[in-house]
Amino acid sequence: MESIKSYVQLHKDRFINELIELLKIPSVSADATYHQDIIKTANTVKESLEKAGCDFVEICDTPGNPIVYGEKTINKNLPTVLVYGHYDVQPADPIELWTSPAFEPVIKKTEIHPEGAIFARGSCDDKGQMYMHVKALEYMIQSNTLPCNVKFMIEGEEEIGSKSLSWFVERNQEKLKCDVILISDTGMISNQQPSITTGLRGLSYVEVEVTGPNRDLHSGLYGGAVANPINVLAKMIASLHDENNRITIPGFYDKVQELSPEERAEMAKAPFILEEYKKALDLNDIYGEKGYATNERNSIRPTLDVNGIWGGYTGEGAKTVIPSKAFAKISMRLVPNQDWEEITELFTNHFISIAPAGVKVKVKPHHGGQGYVTPTDSIGYKAANKAYTETFGVPAIPVRSGGSIPIVALFEKELKSKTILMGFGLDSDAIHSPNEHFGVFNYLKGIETIPLFYKYFVELSK
Ligand code: BES
Ligand code: MN
Ligand code: MN
Repeated sequence: MESIKSYVQLHKDRFINELIELLKIPSVSADATYHQDIIKTANTVKESLEKAGCDFVEICDTPGNPIVYGEKTINKNLPTVLVYGHYDVQPADPIELWTSPAFEPVIKKTEIHPEGAIFARGSCDDKGQMYMHVKALEYMIQSNTLPCNVKFMIEGEEEIGSKSLSWFVERNQEKLKCDVILISDTGMISNQQPSITTGLRGLSYVEVEVTGPNRDLHSGLYGGAVANPINVLAKMIASLHDENNRITIPGFYDKVQELSPEERAEMAKAPFILEEYKKALDLNDIYGEKGYATNERNSIRPTLDVNGIWGGYTGEGAKTVIPSKAFAKISMRLVPNQDWEEITELFTNHFISIAPAGVKVKVKPHHGGQGYVTPTDSIGYKAANKAYTETFGVPAIPVRSGGSIPIVALFEKELKSKTILMGFGLDSDAIHSPNEHFGVFNYLKGIETIPLFYKYFVELSK
């Protein structure tokens, strides 16, 4: 049997085509219209695990979207790797900004991906990265090199808060027992410089509603005499940051884990070119909390951001109106030791307390999760680093990411297992944005690197 490198070379067209078929199904979890596509995607993932060689695969029903579970047991005395991924995707909106339709995958060359990248919603987050694991398993089974047991748990609600997965994990601790959890749902620094994600931020997501008068009013007859909920909401939101861009909610920073000067110096070593960062985003300047560098602001520091704001008249032309209501969706990214439920409560109390008497305020919590940090001296981390070093020719750099995969902290709590985040995406892959893509290089490199993780994990576990 050939090496993984030659196996990938031989089968790469099929690997790409299989992923393209998976990407054609619009498994958007946020929108109930796509429910049938969610089911169809779960079935496709199930079939792919069966074909790859799992000896048991099932669709597990939950109160929400189904979870695909699969396993291949070779010897109960050997370690078990649990692979987690998600088959649901973000909505494609705004669709008019896509250069090709979000669910009609095409390969296009880009400056960063001269070998081509697959453009489609979910290509990087997370169908493409999840499917690398299915193909790596195929290789290990075909070549008889699978060195341990493996379990797969692929969910369909990651993009909406993983409610059903929490439900599933709490009820299936024995079934999910493992020695390490392996996830490819993050990124790396560049195609020349791999990195391993050692931290994720937590999240608290809320929606606020500000109500003024009991109906929309003529803005001439009533303007100036009653509170305009949009004006009020804008002012309230603006007050949530001070002149140093620090969050003003009392107690918000109380539990924030501060890094030592040594740890910050270590972080500063990761390659980062400010000019290129600004250029890539077409920004004249960066912005953020005083006293912290860009790569700290987006990883080890908590944030508060409005994700959407609406109210009043936004149609064509002008309509003179004082709206009855204004709304906003607000997310807070949290860092280790901040508890998301506590932060949600601090936000709620503060937000209600700053409202002027002329309006009524409601805060509706959506979902959340805890942050995560993982040490770099674990067997899993070392195995991942050895795997990257072998396929990229340079060791991986540990990086704390700003993104969130709330279920990771829950895995540690419920399953008592550490998670290794072996991501192969790039920040420029536009996940959650129009024109999301995943480099063909990254996809194939992932398939090549994953079997090495298994090999070294088992070797180092002995
Ligand atoms: N895969 C992402 C998270 C991610 C991406 C982490 C890149 C690190 C680097 C995941 O699908 C995601 O989008 N998570 C959401 C949170 C979820 C609760 C909606 C996020 O971070 O906004
Ligand atoms: Mn993801
Ligand atoms: Mn995502």
